Parts: sequence; structure tokens; C-alpha cells
Amino acid sequence: LSDGPLKGVKAIVTSGPTHEAIDPVRFIANRSSGKQGHAIASALAAMGAEVTLVSGPVSLADPAGMTVVRVESALQMLNAVRQRLPADLVVCAAAVADWTVANRASEKRKKKAGDPPPTIQLAPNPDILMTVSKAEAPLRPRLVVGFAAETEKLMEHAADKLARKGCDWIVANDVSEGSGTFGGDANTVHIIDGTGTESWPAMSKDDVARNLAERITKALGKA
Ligand code: C5P
Repeated sequence: LSDGPLKGVKAIVTSGPTHEAIDPVRFIANRSSGKQGHAIASALAAMGAEVTLVSGPVSLADPAGMTVVRVESALQMLNAVRQRLPADLVVCAAAVADWTVANRASEKRKKKAGDPPPTIQLAPNPDILMTVSKAEAPLRPRLVVGFAAETEKLMEHAADKLARKGCDWIVANDVSEGSGTFGGDANTVHIIDGTGTESWPAMSKDDVARNLAERITKALGKA
């Protein structure tokens, strides 16, 4: 553990996509690389926080200086986060699937000549950010940060998300086609909290992470 302003602060960061199994060999996924979430976990650890990174399936190496819990589904991610509460800080950067597969098959679905294609039934996943934000004391962290990946009406949707989910900050980023955010190394974000919006210029995901860790340090009164 490094000595830094966040020494003694317990943080949980979710990162990456989730995989929702259709059968033992197939799943529903999304384009999240985990780069931003992993960078945030690393920046917090570099400032001395005691970090648990709960990561969906990513091709990134486990970052050093923290506990990494690897999960696949949203339900597993929720359980991993819950097990580690209470925490001072939770950052939900994972691109959690909104839906899981309700009619998951325990054996590989077989294609048979003449059969119609199978139907995949979806059921809502638990919302990890909302669950953590609305937890009762003493499980409610002092600071809960969510992300909003939007392709349109970025600020409007982000402000709505802040209110609906009950988190303290929303980091809004534009993931529309051509923004290069998904899988890319750069990000343009806006921080929305109860008092207003702060827009940051385009910068690397590592710089977004460092700036966010600094803002978190101030908010927790550790600067
Ligand atoms: O509702 P939406 O998915 O756009 O909200 C994004 C934010 O909510 C992100 O911080 C994401 O990590 C979190 N989230 C979550 N669990 C879900 C869905 C979203 O933690 N099931």
C-alpha cells in the first residue's frame, strides 16, 4: 500500500463489461474495455486508498497494488460489491448489462435443420450503482460515483441518472460512434454533482482517472 492522501480510505471500483450467459458457450456482452475503470482503481491505489477492483471479463492485466475480484455476470458483480461493503467510496465504472438471459440453457443450444431459431428471453439485472447508493447507513458509502455513457442528450440523461440512482456524482462521457471512447485511450467527461456540472477537456483515460482521484480526495476532506 502506498502512503498517500487516501491512506485508510476503503474503495470499491467496478470496471469492464458483464457477460450474461445464453448457454455454456455463448453470452451477451458489450464493448466496454475496462480501461477507464481500471485506470481509476490504479489512480486511487497510487494515492494510498485500499482498493478492491471488481472487474468483468476484460483483456487487461490485473493492476498492481489492489485486490482484484474477477466476475462474469451482473449478479456476480453485485454480490462481490455487497460482500465488500462497507466502504468509504464506491466508483461504478462497469458497463453492466441491463438485462440477463432468463431462459439460460444448461447445455449448448443445438441447431437442428428445420427448427426455428431459439428465442432469448431477457430479464432485468440488478442495478449495482442504485443498490449501493440507496443502501442504509452504515453500508452507504460516503461517496458514490456513477458513470453515464450516452450517445445523445448527454447532460440531460446524466442529471436524470444522478437523481434516479441516488449517487453523489455522475461522470458523463460521450460514447457515440466516432467519439472513440469505447476501447480508446482518450475520454471527454463532464462531472455532474448536486451543485452543477464541471466539463473537462479531452484527455487520456489515465488523466481522467488521476483528476477524478484528486477530486475524490478533496470531497472526502483528505486533500
Ligand atoms: O443506467 P445506466 O446503465 O446508464 O447507468 C450507468 C451507471 O450505472 C454506471 O455507473 C454503471 O456502472 C451503473 N450500473 C450498475 N448496474 C447496472 C446498470 C448500471 O451499477 N445494472
